[in-house]
Amino acid sequence: MTKKIIVGITGSIAAFKAVQLVSDLVKLNYHVEVMMSESAAKFITPICIQSLTKRKVYIDTFDDENPAIITHVDIVKDANLFMVVPASAHTIAKLAYGFADNMLTSAFLAATCPKMIAPAMNVHMYENPITQKNMQTLKDQGVLFVEPISGLLACGDVGQGKLADEQDILEMIDYALTEKTLVGKKVLISAGPTQESIDPVRFITNHSSGKMGYAIAKAAFCLGAEVTLVSGPTHLKKPYGVKKIDVISAQQMYEAIIDISNHQDYIIMSAAVGDYACQTIANDKIKKTGENLSLELHKNKDILLELGQRKKTHQILCGFAMETSDLILHAKEKLTKKNCDMIVANHLKTEGAGFQGNTNVVTMITQDDMKDFGLMNKEELAYVILEILIKMEESKC
Ligand code: CTP
Repeated sequence: MTKKIIVGITGSIAAFKAVQLVSDLVKLNYHVEVMMSESAAKFITPICIQSLTKRKVYIDTFDDENPAIITHVDIVKDANLFMVVPASAHTIAKLAYGFADNMLTSAFLAATCPKMIAPAMNVHMYENPITQKNMQTLKDQGVLFVEPISGLLACGDVGQGKLADEQDILEMIDYALTEKTLVGKKVLISAGPTQESIDPVRFITNHSSGKMGYAIAKAAFCLGAEVTLVSGPTHLKKPYGVKKIDVISAQQMYEAIIDISNHQDYIIMSAAVGDYACQTIANDKIKKTGENLSLELHKNKDILLELGQRKKTHQILCGFAMETSDLILHAKEKLTKKNCDMIVANHLKTEGAGFQGNTNVVTMITQDDMKDFGLMNKEELAYVILEILIKMEESKC
């Protein structure tokens, strides 16, 4: 069913960024209703927003077209989310104290759906204890915040006050709209490739993009978990709300994961960990002196194997398998050998599956079940993987 989002825009130079956000929310198939404060309408025009949403933009509380309907109360009744983006210090203060002096503040007060605020203002206004106290008042009532970022502000000051990146706001919308089934749980996910140095300019690696692991981290956060992502080198943006530990080599990944593994409820090893590393790393660039070059490699520690050996009774351990032949046979062997609760087997040779793309084709293998999943978006697949693991954990308790 289409979800309804009310977007409140207030008077800030960042109001122009709300235009793009509204446009993207419409393209993402949300039902978007927009309210603007009087000052917001000085920065951007209602007609601009109206052209994107194809709906009336509300400013004045008493601008009710139909006398039978009290808009500020009626419009929020079936809303799934009320967000104020950008939120000025003035509007935040009004919302904290329950003022209802325009359509935006009146509707916010009447709304019972989840609420979210993305502030944007001058750094000193943001850091002012009055603003901080007002934000805390709203947070204490369960209002979600997407904190502003630091940078050069429109006023010329440098500091925290820039509206959060749109991608982070979109991720927080997903968070606000997702049912929480992992609250109180700690989830550790590894993602991406590892790199093994040969000399100061060269390394051995693989084609992993990290997309599957990052999608699982994002989904676990949206489900309410405390998420740690241990990532090899990737070009991906850190999912909002997730703690990320960057590593390069398999040994670094091993140390980062083992160090915190005991405290986790779920561990998902989606990283493509390099199996071998150079016996010695040359201090200087290796010159092409001969026709052939041999590298002596040693085996890296198998992180998943060790996690399986140390597994606590309450823990859920999930590994991945990627093979070019006998996938299911090898995946089943891994499930037993590495003491996993589930192996996600990647059909590397199937179209739409594999490393770099946004889709995957997998078979999920547990001790007593095996299920094939056709072509799926990695973001969707992340939720399916977590749903199965959550059910396994519940049946363990
Ligand atoms: N893995 C790991 N540590 C390693 C290598 C792999 O934790 N040093 C994990 C991967 O994150 C993945 C799973 O193990 O979850 C893959 O199993 P693995 O047996 O290592 O796969 P391959 O290396 O592809 O298999 P093989 O041993 O047959 O080469």
